Amino acid sequence: MLYSALINVMVKAARRAGRNLKRDLGEIEHLQVSLKGPANFVSKADKRAEEMLYEDLAKARPGYGFIGEEGGTREGADKTHAWIVDPLDGTTNFLHGIPQFAISIGLAREGTVIAGVIYNPANDELYIAERGKGAFLNDQRLRVAGRRRLDECVVACGLPHIGRGDHQLALKEMAALQNKVAGFRRFGAASLDLAFVAAGRIDGYWERNLSPWDIAAGQIMVREAGGTISDIGGRDDALKTGHVVCGNEFVHGELVKILGPLG
Ligand code: IPD
Ligand code: CA
Ligand code: CA
Ligand code: CA
Repeated sequence: MLYSALINVMVKAARRAGRNLKRDLGEIEHLQVSLKGPANFVSKADKRAEEMLYEDLAKARPGYGFIGEEGGTREGADKTHAWIVDPLDGTTNFLHGIPQFAISIGLAREGTVIAGVIYNPANDELYIAERGKGAFLNDQRLRVAGRRRLDECVVACGLPHIGRGDHQLALKEMAALQNKVAGFRRFGAASLDLAFVAAGRIDGYWERNLSPWDIAAGQIMVREAGGTISDIGGRDDALKTGHVVCGNEFVHGELVKILGPLG
């Protein structure tokens, strides 16, 4: 498949950092792991991946801003463009040797995400999306699942870390949905949850208290695959609030109807 110059830059950066993460995965015991808060791990692999991504992206597009989970915000001369990067989404999975983690790169122009790349180096699955041009998994065009009965749907969620978010609310949400859907999943990497919705592997996903780097690339992936994504009240500001719900138009609507009033 012929990528645009922009997607090429993002894919190259993701693949290089991904090769390194894969190497690190084989040597988890040598990675210095520290805690940012209770059950909130960060390792040398996260930090090294972010440095590599910054290096490649800044070299290809000098002046763009850079918002990364581990290094904070780096301003650029170009105030209209910013990379929004999670160098390792799913750190807890990674550190347990669970091959469900990804590099997530979004590019925002004047606050709107115009391109996204999500790459899982463990299984070499590469998701790309560009505004108006569709979403793809390893060159296959993506389309969200078409189910229109909640009791046939598999829905994923995220749960808050120890000491963060509203645990009671998370349980209330699951209780409200558990006898209405065909199945729940908790995979542990928000960017891939969104990519799975785009790929039609799961029908819906919701999570609260995410950060822009968890959502940016996945949001455009879902939209370009024909899905609907919003905050849990149904407003188009998931990226700002960090609360996200998505699915096809029907599933999204049902989830907003059930979850919206709880929060
Ligand atoms: C986390 C993962 C997880 C989600 C957390 C995120 P990290 O990202 O996406 O699925 O539930 O809220 O913080 O810290 O592994 O990059
Ligand atoms: Ca983290
Ligand atoms: Ca993350
Ligand atoms: Ca991360």
